[in-house]
Amino acid sequence: MTEIFSLKGQIAIVTGASRGLGYEMARAVAQSGARVYLTARGANQLADAVATLRGQGLDVVAKAFDLAEPDACVQAIAEIGAAEGRLDILVNNAGINAWEPLAEAKSATWDRVMGTNIRGPYLLCREAARLMVAQGYGRLINIGSAMAVAGREKITAYVASKHGLAGMTRALAAELGPKGVTCNMMAPGYFLTDINTTILARPGYERGVSGRIPLGRWGNPDEVGGVVAFMASKASSYMNGHVLVVDGGLTETFVLPVDG
Ligand SMILES: NC(=O)c1ccc[n+]([C@@H]2O[C@H](COP(=O)([O-])OP(=O)(O)OC[C@H]3O[C@@H](n4cnc5c(N)ncnc54)[C@H](OP(=O)(O)O)[C@@H]3O)[C@@H](O)[C@H]2O)c1
Repeated sequence: MTEIFSLKGQIAIVTGASRGLGYEMARAVAQSGARVYLTARGANQLADAVATLRGQGLDVVAKAFDLAEPDACVQAIAEIGAAEGRLDILVNNAGINAWEPLAEAKSATWDRVMGTNIRGPYLLCREAARLMVAQGYGRLINIGSAMAVAGREKITAYVASKHGLAGMTRALAAELGPKGVTCNMMAPGYFLTDINTTILARPGYERGVSGRIPLGRWGNPDEVGGVVAFMASKASSYMNGHVLVVDGGLTETFVLPVDG
């Protein structure tokens, strides 16, 4: 592998890595040579994911905790920092969605989505940055969404959380850049994972979305791994505060159901 893409000797954390996009990000970062801590709440699914990746010869470790719990975020980074003596890469991938028309929206839903999608990543960035600034190097990567640059109906808390995460990414890029730590966002479009179980169950939904995407299909989870591995590497050294959209062209184009 070209040296600038290598993550050999580096320590990484990927949250929400027991399945879906996070699993593929963890796999790609580990394949590039890093030791990767995979996190999630569900310890059993996490253990299975780690066992599968170890079976592929990768250096991975399970770390189960709920990132909606502030103390757990602080403790997790402290424990990994103490065990490894450094932390090079944090991928804030774990996230949740909630479908609620505004008139039926509950305050508890807002708190749950914000606690998971923004407060957790914020605390993890804060704690990770302490280690990264001390070593003069680090990569913070927040996973947004096409909903970090556009809006949709009935998922207001989710859209707000991802826009907020994009803002946080830019603020941290400004504050930490001078200290050798970059902060960027990877924003996925529509991918076939569990988070979309609700909408995929709606008749015609999958095909309807595909019809709006120039590539004509949903993304496969393994199509985000290489992008995040690049963002985690020295190859992205001059990229900071950037939102990198990976959506088959959905948000950059008009695909209309009429010719011309
Ligand atoms: N799939 C898409 O089409 C799509 C599109 C745009 C953006 N995204 C974003 O990409 C990220 C990953 O999505 P995905 O589709 O891979 O989702 P997913 O298949 O539902 O997986 C979510 C992961 O996050 C973990 N997680 C959820 N809440 C957590 C918490 N409180 N503490 C710790 N871990 C938690 C889950 O494990 P446990 O449940 O065991 O905790 C799981 O490992 C999310 O931020 C999502 O918003 C996805």
